[in-house]
Amino acid sequence: MTGSPADEPARSPEVIATVRAMRGRVQAAQRAGRRVGVVPTMGALHDGHLSLVAASRAACDVTAATVFVNPTQFGPKEDFSRYPRTMEADLAKLAAAGVDYVFAPEVAEIYPDGATTMVELGGVAEPLEGQFRPGHFRGVATVVLKLFQAVPADAAYFGQKDYQQSLVVRHMVADLLLPIEIVVCPIVRESDGLAMSSRNIYLSADERQRALSICRALEAAQVLVAGGERNAERIAAQMQTTLRDSGVESIDYAAVVDADTLAPIQRIESCAVALVAARVGATRLIDNAILDIRSAR
Ligand code: PAJ
Repeated sequence: MTGSPADEPARSPEVIATVRAMRGRVQAAQRAGRRVGVVPTMGALHDGHLSLVAASRAACDVTAATVFVNPTQFGPKEDFSRYPRTMEADLAKLAAAGVDYVFAPEVAEIYPDGATTMVELGGVAEPLEGQFRPGHFRGVATVVLKLFQAVPADAAYFGQKDYQQSLVVRHMVADLLLPIEIVVCPIVRESDGLAMSSRNIYLSADERQRALSICRALEAAQVLVAGGERNAERIAAQMQTTLRDSGVESIDYAAVVDADTLAPIQRIESCAVALVAARVGATRLIDNAILDIRSAR
């Protein structure tokens, strides 16, 4: 199923609510020799999500997107109930993007009565988000595994925006021997640099302005590295200063860590990642940037 020519209106994707029907479509496509890509999302779609759809469409014959606000990855004080749900607009965007199937199950389809089995994680799930959002990655990994069961695609597309999440998924796939390729795509940003996020709609005009300091802090880190700075603590301190100077006081972390393991480092020897999580008003935002001295030299 390749894309329709530009002068033809996009065909609406088939919207599927049951695991059984969804799995059947994917298996039929694969039996016909087609490569299937899946893009897991929680909806409230923006161009970041759609870049994942484009990457899947470029490499696969059939693309399925999933839209499911997963209750188990939200903490008790987090925004599960008020998380934006914009199914109609999402379907229009997915149709225009050329998605073939949208898997949009109810909670009971994914968590049948009495479901208690969860994925247990360690390693890369522990620091950073793992410290500030206990249980979050357990919920993410569990739902991603379930989504891979419902949509047993050949490849799954994730965004670097959620850097630690992409590592957690990669590790789960390797550890549990899952037969799926994980592709991680670059962060899509607004024209002023703010990383696109479904949560950006929570920001007031003033908060939106202050939120820019998050990507500015990451840019400052990249500038320091390009200028030869290798001391992780000094780079992290500069990020904190950039954030505080523009009134972002509530910083969960602004860290420079090993890009593969997320372990603390003193010096950047090869590839590190700078990660920020901060609250602007009531909204918690995350962003990151790779600090690769091989390309900075
Ligand atoms: P959600 O926040 O909807 O994001 C879905 C996918 O879009 C994730 O892989 C995320 O990294 C990617 N994404 C979000 N903003 C992006 C941006 N600005 N640029 C590029 N990619 C971006 O992440 C989740 O949902 C959930 O945890 C999920 C994996 C679906 C499990 O419930």
